[in-house]
Amino acid sequence: MNHCVLPTADGVWRHLRFAPGALAGEQAIEGDAAIAVADGKIAWVGRGDAVPESFAVLPRFDGRDALVTPGLVDCHTHLVYGGQRANEFAMRLSGATYEEVAKAGGGIVSSVRATREADEDTLYAQAARRLEQLLAEGVCAIEIKSGYGLALEHERKQLRVARRLGEAYGVTVRTTFLGAHALPPEYAGRQGDYVELVCKEMLPALASEGLVDAVDVFCERIAFSLEETERVFQAAKALGLPVKLHAEQLSDMGGAALAARYGALSCDHIEHLSAEGIAAMREAGTTAVLLPGAYYTLRDTHLPPIEALRAAGVPMAVSTDHNPGTSPALSLLLMANMACTLFRLTVPEAIAGITRHAARALGLQDTHGVIGVGRPANFVLWQLRDGAELAYWFGQQPERTIVRQGRIVKK
Ligand code: NIG
Ligand code: FE
Repeated sequence: MNHCVLPTADGVWRHLRFAPGALAGEQAIEGDAAIAVADGKIAWVGRGDAVPESFAVLPRFDGRDALVTPGLVDCHTHLVYGGQRANEFAMRLSGATYEEVAKAGGGIVSSVRATREADEDTLYAQAARRLEQLLAEGVCAIEIKSGYGLALEHERKQLRVARRLGEAYGVTVRTTFLGAHALPPEYAGRQGDYVELVCKEMLPALASEGLVDAVDVFCERIAFSLEETERVFQAAKALGLPVKLHAEQLSDMGGAALAARYGALSCDHIEHLSAEGIAAMREAGTTAVLLPGAYYTLRDTHLPPIEALRAAGVPMAVSTDHNPGTSPALSLLLMANMACTLFRLTVPEAIAGITRHAARALGLQDTHGVIGVGRPANFVLWQLRDGAELAYWFGQQPERTIVRQGRIVKK
């Protein structure tokens, strides 16, 4: 698929209604609205009866009173991997926990085996099918992590696939190096040596190849300690790369406070986040990324501290966490639904979670996540009456038109 051959979205999009929070800043337009797109960028936004004369020559598109949101942003995915882990789903149904499955040689390490065995083109083809589903829903920017290679050549392979996907599909891809996701079997008993390899060899090499936009660690008792996490953060800092963290998913490790000290873009999962962690995140401007798909799949019962995050004003993003172990989900709208039903987010919070705040979690707040003049044209026209419908329907896709990077990719 070549994104450039898709029809241009340049023109005036009329008969629109903006969803709450869709526009940059505090801007709001009640009732009939319009967007002008020129050269793939948003050139003007305003009331439908006030389209400037200068745009009169442009083609017109009738939005049919659609509800408009910014393009969706999926800010936490492990999209590139080999194989699948339905057997672990069955094991957990018979009573095994995520930690028990991991200790029995399943879990992340079993996806590492399958990923190492697959060549780059195979991984590309499999990830492309998954990406197509997310894009068809309205995703315009996505984060893709490594972390199923756990050796230089295999981490490189994952990140190269991520870059290739971004180019082929005309979608903004942010790559995150997650070499410290699990201990590869060949390093059993030598965890310190593996962290050394991650910091001294893998990260510098991949960063020099332009494959790394951010650095992540799985800080957990079945993964990496606080001290090991900090070593990776120091290596990232030395290379000028931003950090994020899989933090406090199964226990309170104090990871969020550490990440905040390193100015982390986001702390993700955070079911066991403490009051200190929240205060540190607020101070640092770190985004909280909620992953209801993993919470649901693991039949977790320990809710993330939503009320305290809200009270502290910490921005909350919502993402699929797509991965073969804990969240084999490919719908951001379903995650918005779950964030409301399971975590009690309000509908506007859930929508901000998959747009504005998700962009922030990737450092993309100046280009993505809201509709504003000068930004690339990324928006979705939903044939829905009520904004709450975005989070209300599940297991189905509302009728929609998608404009991504200035092209009409779905009508
Ligand atoms: O975000 N928590 C760690 N990493 C992934 C799960 C990875 C896996 O089980 O394969 C997550 O949930
Ligand atoms: Fe994850």
